[in-house]
Amino acid sequence: MQRAFQSSRIGNIPLKNRFFRSATHDYFANPDGSISDRQIDIIEDLAKHRVGAIITAITAIRADGISIENQNRLDDDRYIESLRKLCDVAHKHGSKVFVQLAHGGAKSLLEADSMIYSPSKVQLNEDVSTTEMSQKDIARIVDDFIRAAHRSKLAKADGVQLHAAHGYLLSQFISSVSNARTDEYGGSAINRFRIVKEIIERIVAEVDFPVILKLNSNLIRGNHFIEEENETYLADLIEMIKDAKSAGCVAVELSGTGFQQLSQITHPYFIHQAIEVKKHVDIPVILVGGIRNTKHIQQVMDANIDFVSMSRPLICEPDLVDKFKVGQFKARCILCNQCFVLPTTKDRRCVFHK
Ligand SMILES: Cc1cc2nc3c(=O)[nH]c(=O)nc-3n(C[C@H](O)[C@H](O)[C@H](O)COP(=O)(O)O)c2cc1C
Repeated sequence: MQRAFQSSRIGNIPLKNRFFRSATHDYFANPDGSISDRQIDIIEDLAKHRVGAIITAITAIRADGISIENQNRLDDDRYIESLRKLCDVAHKHGSKVFVQLAHGGAKSLLEADSMIYSPSKVQLNEDVSTTEMSQKDIARIVDDFIRAAHRSKLAKADGVQLHAAHGYLLSQFISSVSNARTDEYGGSAINRFRIVKEIIERIVAEVDFPVILKLNSNLIRGNHFIEEENETYLADLIEMIKDAKSAGCVAVELSGTGFQQLSQITHPYFIHQAIEVKKHVDIPVILVGGIRNTKHIQQVMDANIDFVSMSRPLICEPDLVDKFKVGQFKARCILCNQCFVLPTTKDRRCVFHK
């Protein structure tokens, strides 16, 4: 347990401990997509209570990649200033900031005049289907990731996290369920990972900026988890992480699809996959999902996994890391998932907050 509180590093970045706040959309962006004062207060509350590294809320790299209401954006230089304020408050308290860059792909919000892009065509409803991306579309979206990484650097962030999990565009490429392409962006694991690898390589080469990758540890077909497919997926995942490392990625965060439905699991949800990844790839692993008490943190540390990351418990108790430090055993969070609803219905984030 002590190890979790000891200083550490990712690449050349020193960290005050091994606690991450996983990317968490809060629904409180300004209407234009810039970071609001309320969001900056949320970050300060985490930073001053010992969270070592904070991954921002999902941030759109293009207008047609916005996937949720009140999302932050970084598709224009005008967003740099508010992001810089956020970084400044985190740094004031010794915490690091990684900006989570994403494109929603087939999960993007449908605007009257926009296309919805995805690796392969998806029929969203009777009238609407997505547009299968051409290689030109892919190249344009890769360029936009690079521009957003550059803006993150100008805002004095410590790095970026590419969101390649939870069914957004990059994970749609990675997953054999949503990627049926027959060109070099589809087929084998290495091909399905190609777009992610290109983004990492270009951020490293052109922006000279640290890149973390968030990945799914599991594969779901419809709502089903299929054992054999998941074994194949884990082997693919390991190959992809090797590829990410060779492209210059400094760490991977392992999450998974369907995490909202896993609250009956009483251990960190994806610890098995994280252990397998650590056996095969020498890269820092950040584990997220279902970490709720000091026993879980001990399990993660004992498995030689590098970092623990939390989202819902830190919405409920932003000072949770401090509380763990002084002996509180378990988070108050009951994983009720109301944090997805309350911000828009009641203007608050947790059932336990007023
Ligand atoms: C309200 C809410 C918003 C979230 N927003 C994001 C997000 O913007 N990007 C992301 O990658 N994951 C997001 N997540 C998922 C978390 O980062 C994390 O992977 C997941 O909640 C599992 O961790 P936990 O059990 O500690 O909550 C969100 C989760 C919640 C509850």
